[in-house]
Amino acid sequence: MLTWNKIKTPLMFMYSCFFKPLGDHGANLQNRLESFYRDQANIYDASRGSLLRGRKTMLRLCSAQLKEQLAQQTGAKIKPVWIDLGGGTGWNIEQMNEWFPIDQFAKVILVDLTPSLCQVARQRFKEKGWANVTVLCQDAATFQLPDNEHGLEGTIDLVTMSYSLSMMDHFYPVVDRVQSLLSPQGIVGVVDFYVSGRSAAAAEQWSPQHNRQCNWFTRFFWNVWFDFDHINLSPGRRDYLEYRFGTIKTLNRRNHFIIPYAIQIPYYVWLGCSKARQSMMHSPVSDDNVSISSSRSSASDSSLQQGFSPTSFSLQSNPWRLDYDNALPQHTQFRSYIYAFTWEDPRVDLQHMSIGKEDILFVITSAGDNALEYAIQGQPKRIHCVDMNPCQNHLMELKLAGIASLSYHDFWRMFGQGRHSGFPRLLHEILSPHLSPYALQYWVQHTDRFASKFYKTGYSGLALTLIEWWLKMNGLLEDARKMATTSSMEEQKTIWETRVRPAIFSPMIRTAMDNPLFMWNALGVPKNQMKMFLSECTTEEYVANTLDPIAHQSLISGDQYFYYLCLMQHYHPDNCPSYLTQQGFHTLKTSGALGAFRLHTDSILNALQSLDDDYLTRLVVMDHMDWFDEAHCEELEQEVMHMARTLKKGGHVYWRSASRQPWYNTLFQKHGFSRVEGLSVRQTGTMIDRVNMYASFYRAIK
Ligand SMILES: C[S@@+](CC[C@H](N)C(=O)[O-])C[C@H]1O[C@@H](n2cnc3c(N)ncnc32)[C@H](O)[C@@H]1O
Repeated sequence: MLTWNKIKTPLMFMYSCFFKPLGDHGANLQNRLESFYRDQANIYDASRGSLLRGRKTMLRLCSAQLKEQLAQQTGAKIKPVWIDLGGGTGWNIEQMNEWFPIDQFAKVILVDLTPSLCQVARQRFKEKGWANVTVLCQDAATFQLPDNEHGLEGTIDLVTMSYSLSMMDHFYPVVDRVQSLLSPQGIVGVVDFYVSGRSAAAAEQWSPQHNRQCNWFTRFFWNVWFDFDHINLSPGRRDYLEYRFGTIKTLNRRNHFIIPYAIQIPYYVWLGCSKARQSMMHSPVSDDNVSISSSRSSASDSSLQQGFSPTSFSLQSNPWRLDYDNALPQHTQFRSYIYAFTWEDPRVDLQHMSIGKEDILFVITSAGDNALEYAIQGQPKRIHCVDMNPCQNHLMELKLAGIASLSYHDFWRMFGQGRHSGFPRLLHEILSPHLSPYALQYWVQHTDRFASKFYKTGYSGLALTLIEWWLKMNGLLEDARKMATTSSMEEQKTIWETRVRPAIFSPMIRTAMDNPLFMWNALGVPKNQMKMFLSECTTEEYVANTLDPIAHQSLISGDQYFYYLCLMQHYHPDNCPSYLTQQGFHTLKTSGALGAFRLHTDSILNALQSLDDDYLTRLVVMDHMDWFDEAHCEELEQEVMHMARTLKKGGHVYWRSASRQPWYNTLFQKHGFSRVEGLSVRQTGTMIDRVNMYASFYRAIK
């Protein structure tokens, strides 16, 4: 008996889906559906758990988006109205109660054409005592709201369809109906199986995608397979949905339902909204008087004029991320961020930059730590963060979203301790409304990054892993820990001189240091940069000039979060970047400083080209100019020319270099800067900042 109960559900499911003759019902859709579902109505929920994946994700994202929008709304309407089309047994509605209590909806309407499933739904809601939930047994294409609900047309806050759009014979009128029901701020949530077209490129313009494309076998096989059950996966439905609505979030996933990892059924989770919403979300950038030349063409142009971009970026709750073409090879080459933390000291920058509320900054994103520092200390009007690697901007978005929406405690666990087991929940339920579709896709695929040690992820994480491995191999782990935690400068110095330094300058490591391949592959030092410092000193001298002063003068457990992180792989509340302190976090959250950020996923040159003349006041380009080859410096020369063009008179450019006297300094004089000055140039035994990795820090003034 026990065994029968166990196998009854899968057997019934298999019989109903694969073997049971459906009979000929002609054009009568309701009879066909009823004949398909009648015998399985009572086992429907138990048999669909692993087949209909992504329903919870869709509901959680919708509930987060809805909550966020309601929180923004001031005025009378508090309780939203939700319609679930093709809602079947009402499983979605019961699930939603976990994230958005059903009694907090003014009304929930389930529409489904199959009488036996509607019966299960009615029974479910009766048992729950939800008097605000109505079941309509009608066709989603033509259904009529009850007489007393006609006023709801055009006011619905949420419409969902889970695995039902692909079953609806007439999908055009259904999608059109959704549009007429939806309020201008309303959300549509869909989860369903799909196959892409031969090329998903056409759809990309409506909804930027990752992992959307299916191979020919998948396209053919699943289309035919599902067709037996009158389920239509062809791309037209999804494309029409995306054509009619603006995309807020989109995920392309694979369900390994039948044979784990061998067979993958493509499904998508998609959140959309009325395209009319574009003009309401963000006003154009008139707030900062950014004037972008119409002749300048770059992804950032249109996006700077938020509200008018045809792509989904303009529909997001936050204007941070600017549109870019995710499919370009220069972006797809990056699978991860390089830097999980920023390896330059912003304190020294700030001593010279004197940022005020009228300043407009242009900085390299990296991990975003320094841009956040500038925002805390100077609260400038605008900070353009630029990075060619989309993942660096995904990371920066996550930080901005975290500051905007999380408690300090959760934020600290993520980026201070680098570990938060609840990250997947935070991502779906709190952070998602604040993330662009690209960033959400990225983090949904990388939720494991916060499972143990975030700072061991990315390429900088590889470097930390390598350091840890090397310390272990040399029996120095305990010494390193002591160096990072001792409050005695003397003890730190002694450990350095007697234990760590001799191991670093061992004959084997010295040999490795002279090998450019090792320097690039293990330490990420580019060839051109290495060439620059080798003309002034040996690698060994360079490393000694970097590390000796730190070990002798900068207490790692004190005000030295850079090396503390390298040795401990997490921060300490008293030894961390300002954005991770309670005060810094609070300033960013409450002062409006987050509104200054605009993230460009582009090269520095392209991003500069998209900006108008005499616009910026401060540029910080880190050590990026060291990467250019002196013999082929046309692009760098272009960059410097555009720096001069986009900077206001009196504006500054800041850079660091591995060379004391970088060859490219002369380009600034050549292209209209009045002065180039060395703000600090490292001598043996001196520190130019708390990282001390570079030999010089320069400024050019226009
Ligand atoms: C695979 S089930 C999904 C049910 C439910 N949304 C879920 O996620 O469990 C598809 C549902 O769509 C309903 N359906 C199909 N065509 C429909 C139509 N034209 N109008 C209303 N419901 C329809 C079916 O009755 C069925 O309940």
